[in-house]
Amino acid sequence: MTLRTIDSLGPLAGKRVVVRCDLNVPLKDGVITDDGRVRASIPTIRALTSQGARVIVVSHLGRPEGAPDPKYSLAPAAVRLGELLEAPVALASDTVGPDAEAKVAALGDGEVLVLENLRFNPGETSKDGAERRAFAEQLAAFADAVVSDGFGVVHRKQASVWDLEQLRPSAAGLLIAAELDVLDRLTESPERPYAVVLGGSKVSDKLGVIAHLLPRVDTLLIGGGMLFTFLAAKGHPVGSSLLEADQIETVRGYLAKAEELGVDIVLPTDIVVAASFSADAEHVVTTAEAIEETPFGASGLGLDIGPETAAAFAERIRGSKTVFWNGPMGVFELAPFAAGTRAIAGALTETEGLSVVGGGDSAAAVRQLGFADDAFGHISTGGGASLEFLEGKKLPGLEVLGWQ
Ligand code: 3PG
Repeated sequence: MTLRTIDSLGPLAGKRVVVRCDLNVPLKDGVITDDGRVRASIPTIRALTSQGARVIVVSHLGRPEGAPDPKYSLAPAAVRLGELLEAPVALASDTVGPDAEAKVAALGDGEVLVLENLRFNPGETSKDGAERRAFAEQLAAFADAVVSDGFGVVHRKQASVWDLEQLRPSAAGLLIAAELDVLDRLTESPERPYAVVLGGSKVSDKLGVIAHLLPRVDTLLIGGGMLFTFLAAKGHPVGSSLLEADQIETVRGYLAKAEELGVDIVLPTDIVVAASFSADAEHVVTTAEAIEETPFGASGLGLDIGPETAAAFAERIRGSKTVFWNGPMGVFELAPFAAGTRAIAGALTETEGLSVVGGGDSAAAVRQLGFADDAFGHISTGGGASLEFLEGKKLPGLEVLGWQ
């Protein structure tokens, strides 16, 4: 079965449509540092307002613990939404309370209202199905129909993602449809050679995707903090770099499996090692086997892949017909350790095949490093969601929309 589309909801003029977006944007001192998720939610909202629907946007932001917390207010996202839509966007100061009720009642045809952070309510993320359902019913009271478009959150079985969609006629929005179109190509019929680049800090977050992708890809390029667990699995000392000692055996298993399958797991040959975790830390480039042989000894910290590795990875990427990348290669937020991530992003923009950047962190990294969104085949708005999709897991927020 395929996704139910907005058309399946029939004419929506004058109808109240609750749209579940993922407006979980990174903020610094209350200012949005990457508005990609807000921009990505615009096509669906416009598709609804242009037919005269009364649009009620709901989303989470961060992980507040079931109670209002001003630091997680959706106010900055609502302001940005208004700027991008070039239309007034009201914000209710609660999600299902008196202000939301009053503002929903006052909403006119073609207008947009944002309700405050869903996760200010314990029911949203509750593991207790009855509590979740009770909160979803409160949201459903505002809706004639529901459009689910928060791709970044489809892997969560939460009230607004799973229960609400069952209480009213519901369909997938345009963002979810676009994301699935690309991610499905990565799993169903990737053009070869197919390279996957994995970085980020923890190998434990990537175990499922590595296991699932190994039999499907030609090359796996490993960078980021997780590379040190791979180096340790090969018997190399890693100084004080990030290490998940309890994953070393699992990683050894993957290395053996890759050899058996003829898949190339490519590990860095050189590393940027620093005296401490700071932008002005003294740092040197050394070979991957000699991390403890720098002047910093066993206290040296690997914070980026080295230039030789970046060039080798870039060549593999440029020679591939399909590339999926998740996770920065180093601590790109600190300028001296951004070169590896920049080189990989650059190579993705140069490949002639399909290049997909997956995940909040990687998307923020490429934008922060100055790359334009349209330089890539696709930038996914979902981090955990895109990884779980590639792991072949059934995602509740897609299942509930008819996807199988
Ligand atoms: C994300 O940032 O990956 C999504 O918005 C989901 O957020 P969560 O991991 O807090 O559920």
